[in-house]
Amino acid sequence: MAASIDGYVATHPDQTDAERHQQGFSNEADWQNLLRHIRTCDAVILGSSTLKAGGGVIEQSREDGSYPTWLTLTNRGIPHDHIFWKQSYAERWLVSSSPLEIPDDSRAEKVRNIVYDETTTVHAPVLAAVNSLRDAGCRRVLLLGGGGINRMFYDAGVVDELILTVCPLLVAREDGVPLVQTGLPDLVHFHLHHVCSDKDLVFIHYKVK
Ligand SMILES: NC(=O)c1ccc[n+]([C@@H]2O[C@H](COP(=O)([O-])OP(=O)(O)OC[C@H]3O[C@@H](n4cnc5c(N)ncnc54)[C@H](OP(=O)(O)O)[C@@H]3O)[C@@H](O)[C@H]2O)c1
Repeated sequence: MAASIDGYVATHPDQTDAERHQQGFSNEADWQNLLRHIRTCDAVILGSSTLKAGGGVIEQSREDGSYPTWLTLTNRGIPHDHIFWKQSYAERWLVSSSPLEIPDDSRAEKVRNIVYDETTTVHAPVLAAVNSLRDAGCRRVLLLGGGGINRMFYDAGVVDELILTVCPLLVAREDGVPLVQTGLPDLVHFHLHHVCSDKDLVFIHYKVK
């Protein structure tokens, strides 16, 4: 996650990666850092707004040439004309509370819809995501936000590291997207694993205590 000094990951909910880059949220080193993590992960978890803001899944293969599984949480589904449906190089899983409308053609290749039962526990979406990835043999999973999705995963206690880029700007906007949406019942504590910087950006690797 790349956050401003005051902890925002976007100045508004639909902010694109390109706009964020222009505003100084990121630089080439930060982008390369993200790509390096994608190269070494088995899966990426994100919310549908982040997927849409980023223009679909990031076309970065892993070191063996395969692609990580991209798991998106969405109850409304992804519009059928979105580039997501053309990105069949990657496994793309959609996690929802009821079955989604999946196109009945080649666009559905490598797409899987995982439906969770929201009446069981408040953590049902998180457990559905994590258990499905674990069953498929995934070990290293990136949580790519945004703030609401991050809160769900911290709340369920399944996050063990935070790889954070602190960007040299203050946002302080009412419609800004925070690193973690408000509403966590307990404090989350970290210890510092590694820190370095590039120009005005600081790269911090924390482990959850
Ligand atoms: N700076 C960074 O490092 C960084 C990283 C990530 C994101 N961002 C930015 O953050 C912004 C988006 O963040 P956001 O917090 O507004 O949105 P988000 O977390 O990416 O996505 C929210 C969406 O997730 C889905 N969702 C939420 N709870 C769900 C549940 N229980 N079950 C199924 N689906 C669920 C819903 O999708 P549906 O509406 O489709 O049902 C909801 O609208 C974008 O501007 C993005 O670029 C920045």
